[in-house]
Amino acid sequence: MTLLEQLAIQHPLFLAPMAGVSTAKLAAEVSNQGGLGSLGLGAASLASAKQQILETKALTNRPFQVNFFCHQSSLQDTPRNRTWIEHLKPQFEKFGAELPHDLDCIYPSFLDNDDYLNLVLDTQPKAVSFHFGIPHERQIKALKDAGIITMVSATNLAEAREIEAAGIDIIIAQGIEAGGHRGIFNENIDSGIKTADLVKLLAAHCSLPIVAAGGVMNGFQAQYLLNLGAAAVQLGTAFVQCKSSSANAAYRTALLSKPITQITSSISGRPARGIINAWAKSVDLPERVEVAPYPYAYDLGKQLNAAALKQGNSEYGAFWAGSNVIQVRELEATDLMNQLILEMNQYDE
Ligand SMILES: Cc1cc2nc3c(=O)[nH]c(=O)nc-3n(C[C@H](O)[C@H](O)[C@H](O)COP(=O)(O)O)c2cc1C
Repeated sequence: MTLLEQLAIQHPLFLAPMAGVSTAKLAAEVSNQGGLGSLGLGAASLASAKQQILETKALTNRPFQVNFFCHQSSLQDTPRNRTWIEHLKPQFEKFGAELPHDLDCIYPSFLDNDDYLNLVLDTQPKAVSFHFGIPHERQIKALKDAGIITMVSATNLAEAREIEAAGIDIIIAQGIEAGGHRGIFNENIDSGIKTADLVKLLAAHCSLPIVAAGGVMNGFQAQYLLNLGAAAVQLGTAFVQCKSSSANAAYRTALLSKPITQITSSISGRPARGIINAWAKSVDLPERVEVAPYPYAYDLGKQLNAAALKQGNSEYGAFWAGSNVIQVRELEATDLMNQLILEMNQYDE
């Protein structure tokens, strides 16, 4: 069975799950055009996750995927958190905001919380994908028994081999160009492999279908990766500019500003690629102390952004974007899908 048959979709195009950016409407628009829409639920409360899934189901009869984070939970390390809070003190003072005493684990891992597993089992999306690691064996079994297709991000061959051995159905090959968080299992080791090279590598060594993610902004780039052995392509940044994403005005302006991107762990505690802004200029300094672990650092990052926004400063937003953001287009998701399909067809002509 091909990947398209397995997922019951018409085109090998996935909307990347984007926590905080994807919406039910965006997911449904992609699914309704024959691609695989996605909901990034890694940062969502249980109630919000349920609402988003039900809303998507109301907007499309077609398959879509939901996405969660499988990070290894770090224990509360107050001294390390305090050191990081102190490092950001000048920024909080600049905005007249109070410094928190400690940081919270704002995102539970799917590994530690079966409420999200039960939600997936209850609502039965076609597929579920995971970032930062692999679910527990019993969780994978429960998903497979329910007929739900499983996918996990890999950034190198070792991770892909673990994914295959765990009985997952599909590998998302996330290249170094990708916007947002690196899917690396261990945040201290990153092979930094480019999307095209990763597709070739994983296609040569693995028997599972490979979905290419990272730096794809048009159908020509998508078809190139399909020709290298990818079974489908997943696009994130290209869809952030669509009206139905929840990106705010400052994020949209930044995307269109011909920006450069950089990978930093200063914002959340895990490496992620985004548009260079005040974080790079005033926090990510050479003398930077050890960042608090994920997602504790993200708690502080969000508090700093909120304090800055109160003073009318949007320079501390986490504007995740891939290295190819310069090719972003201002299109509705439906039109973008049609354009991508057209370009893919033209590639081989
Ligand atoms: C705004 C944004 C948020 C993202 N959030 C998630 C997420 O919640 N889960 C996930 O697995 N990947 C997430 N990613 C990474 C994407 O799955 C994908 O790897 C990436 O978007 C591909 O690169 P591109 O942005 O150049 O298309 C995010 C990417 C962006 C741009």
